[in-house]
Amino acid sequence: MVKLTIDGIQVEVPKGTTILEAARTLDIHIPTLCHLKGVNNSGSCRVCVVESGPRLVASCSIMAEDGMDIKTNTAKVRESRKTVVKLILSDHKRECTTCIRSENCELQSLSSELNIRDIEYDGERLQLGTDSLSPSVSRDPEKCILCGRCISTCSKVQEVHAIGFIERGFDTTVAPAYAKSLDDVFCTNCGQCITACPVGALYEKENIKDVWKAIYDKEKYVVVQTAPAIRAA
Ligand code: SF4
Ligand code: FES
Repeated sequence: MVKLTIDGIQVEVPKGTTILEAARTLDIHIPTLCHLKGVNNSGSCRVCVVESGPRLVASCSIMAEDGMDIKTNTAKVRESRKTVVKLILSDHKRECTTCIRSENCELQSLSSELNIRDIEYDGERLQLGTDSLSPSVSRDPEKCILCGRCISTCSKVQEVHAIGFIERGFDTTVAPAYAKSLDDVFCTNCGQCITACPVGALYEKENIKDVWKAIYDKEKYVVVQTAPAIRAA
């Protein structure tokens, strides 16, 4: 076991527990974006930062250690989270009012929680267009925040490996290898990537019932799930 202090409260947790998990045992809220419990722990978005001594650390991927003094809600922490979310939003297609995930989008909720009203980081954005050739899943890379949750779900949970990160730096995006359409790779149409996505970058085709009938009729696709994923409320 390890003993640490979070926001002035002493807590004892098993070795190997992250700071985020330790905080949750105390009902202390730390926002997250790329973290998907048991599936994706890339520590890439930095929304979950907390103060540990003089440093800001990603609470979802740093283990709790004996004697740590963690602060989860200081001005420095709040400012850092706000900057991170603004930077994510600066390269995000902000069509919230017409987006299929409006009111059910983790980035939108987080922006509201952090009271973000304007984005001062304007600049070039990736112009990639939507991949809507798949019979079940549409992909809009201009809304993707590169959290990797869909990739981990597709590879670790479903063991399909249909999508991954391609390109590097500013050009990084999530797509099937060689930027092919989802319709051109061995996607099983399970829809779990949609469930994992925190924003509207992956979504079901509107005529999903007809699509599934067509899939069964044509026997074109290997179906590993009995139904497409229904997004968690
Ligand atoms: Fe994350 Fe969605 Fe982009 Fe996948 S498509 S990396 S889940 S934002
Ligand atoms: Fe911890 Fe993204 S939630 S780094």
